Amino acid sequence: MAYSVLARKWRPSTFDEVIGQEAVIQTLKNSIEEGRIHHSLIFSGLRGTGKTSTARIYAKALNCKNGPTVSPCLECDACKDIAEGRDIDVMEIDAASNKGVDDIRNLKEIVQYPPVRDRYRVFIIDEVHMLSTHAFNALLKTIEEPPDYVVFILATTEPHKIPATIRSRCQIFEFKKIPPVKIVEHLKSICEKEKIEIEDNALKLIVDASEGSMRDAQSLLDQIISFTGGKIKEEDVSVVLGVPDSTVFFEIFKAILDSNGSKIVEILDKLEERNTDFVKFVLRLGEFFNSLLHAVVSKDNDFLPDYLKEKRFSVEDIIRYLNVILQNERFVREAFNPRIAVELLLFKMVFASKVIPISELLSKKKLNENKSSVFKNSEDGYSERIFKRNSELIDFIKSSFQNYTAFNSILKKAEVDVEGNMVYVTLDPVPSSVKESIEKKVLKSIEGNLYIRFKKRFRCMLNIPEISPRKSVNGIEKHPLVKKIVEEFDGRIERIEK
Ligand SMILES: Nc1ncnc2c1ncn2[C@@H]1O[C@H](COP(=O)(O)OP(=O)(O)O)[C@@H](O)[C@H]1O
Ligand SMILES: [Mg+2]
Ligand SMILES: [Zn+2]
Repeated sequence: MAYSVLARKWRPSTFDEVIGQEAVIQTLKNSIEEGRIHHSLIFSGLRGTGKTSTARIYAKALNCKNGPTVSPCLECDACKDIAEGRDIDVMEIDAASNKGVDDIRNLKEIVQYPPVRDRYRVFIIDEVHMLSTHAFNALLKTIEEPPDYVVFILATTEPHKIPATIRSRCQIFEFKKIPPVKIVEHLKSICEKEKIEIEDNALKLIVDASEGSMRDAQSLLDQIISFTGGKIKEEDVSVVLGVPDSTVFFEIFKAILDSNGSKIVEILDKLEERNTDFVKFVLRLGEFFNSLLHAVVSKDNDFLPDYLKEKRFSVEDIIRYLNVILQNERFVREAFNPRIAVELLLFKMVFASKVIPISELLSKKKLNENKSSVFKNSEDGYSERIFKRNSELIDFIKSSFQNYTAFNSILKKAEVDVEGNMVYVTLDPVPSSVKESIEKKVLKSIEGNLYIRFKKRFRCMLNIPEISPRKSVNGIEKHPLVKKIVEEFDGRIERIEK
C-alpha cells in the first residue's frame, strides 16, 4: 500500500481508540491492571488492522511515566517518543529488511543491557514470519530466557510461518478484520474532521474495497481525495476503483424488467470503457439484489428510485434473479472473458423474469404481445440470435407433431410460441380428456426430444384460449379452471380482479 497521510495522522494512540479489536484490547488491559506483564506476544492478523498501533500503545502503557497504566498520558517523553517511533528503548525491527536481520543477529547482545530511560526494553518485530531459520534461532535463544525488563511483540500476517518453538513461548493475540460498519463510521468521522464532503455510497464503495483493513480504507480515501479535492461523489470512487456505482444496478434492474437486451449491452459497454472489474461487478450485483430482496420483504419503497416505483415485480422474481446470479457467478470468475459471461448472466435474468399473470396466459393475444416484447429491438444481436433459435425450435416442434397421428387433425392447427425455456402450444378448444392425453403423450415426449436435440430443458404447456373468465368474483377461486391452473403452475391466487 502506498504511503498514507491519513493513516499516519489517525493512528490510534490509546487502547480505547483501537477499533474492532475488543477482545485483544481487553486482554491487554487486564494484564496491565493485574500486573501480569506478558513478555512475549504474537500479534497476528490482516494488514492494517492495528497490530503496530497496538504494539506502540502497549509499549506506552508499560513505559509511560505514570505506568504501567492502561491509560498512558501521551505527554511524557516516553509516550511522545514511542508514538513517533523514536524511543531509545522501544525498538521497531522490520524483519523483511536487511537492517532488521542484522538487528536480530545482535539481539542477544542488546538485551543484556537494561533500558536506558524507560521501564521496559520493548522489541516490536514486524513481519516476523519473514525471518530465516538462522534468525529465528537467534530470536528463540533470547525469547527462551528474557530478562524481566524485556518485552517482545512479534507482528505477522502469517502466524503459521512462525516456528512452533517460538509460538509456544508466546501469548497469541488475533487481530480480526474490522467490520465494514465500523470502518464506515470511522472514515465518516475522519472526513468530518478533515472537512471533506463524501456521499454515503462513495464511502460504502471504499469500505467494500478495503476488505476489513482500516489502513487500506484510509489509503483509498487519501488517493481519492488527491484526485477529487474536498468533495467526493460515488462516481469518483467508482472510476478510481473500477467498480460500478449503485445507479448502474438500478438501470440494469430496469432493463431486466423491460426485457431490454440492447440496454443491457449498452450498460455493459459503458462499464467496460471504465475498466470495470466484472468479477467484482457480479459480487456487487448479488449484493444489490440481496438488498432489493430485503427492501421488498420489509416493504421499504424508498430503496427504489422513482422510475422503478411503478414497475411490477414480486419477491419470487427477485429470488429467481438471485438464483441466476448464484448459479452463474462461478462462470464469470472462471471465464476467459468475464464481460461475455456477465452478459450471458444478465440475459438469463431477463428470461428468468417472465412470470406471466394468469389473465395473460389465458388470452393468446396477450401472450403473443408479451413474447414479442422480448424481441422489441431487432438491432440487438442477442434478440436476433434468440429469435433464430426459437424459430428453429418451433419448426422442430411442429414437425414432431406429425408423429402423433391420433391427434393429427388437432395438432395441425396448433400454434407454437417459445419464450425462454417455455414452449406454449395453443390449440382450438378440445374436450378435457383429449387435452390431458395431448399433455401426457405429446408434450411430455416433445420435452424429451427437445432436450436431446438442443441440450436444454424446455417446458411445454398447453394453452386453450376459448374459456372466458367468470363474471362473478365470489367463488371464482373454486372454479375448476382456476383450480386447475393453480395446480398446473404450482401457483397461488394473488388477487382477483373484476
Ligand atoms: N483497529 C484500528 N483502529 C483504528 N485505526 C486503525 C486500526 N487498524 C489500523 N488502523 C489505521 O491503519 C494504520 C495502520 O495500522 P497498523 O497498526 O500499522 O496496522 P498493522 O500493523 O496491523 O498493519 C493506522 O495508522 C491507523 O490509521
Ligand atoms: Mg504494521
Ligand atoms: Zn506518558
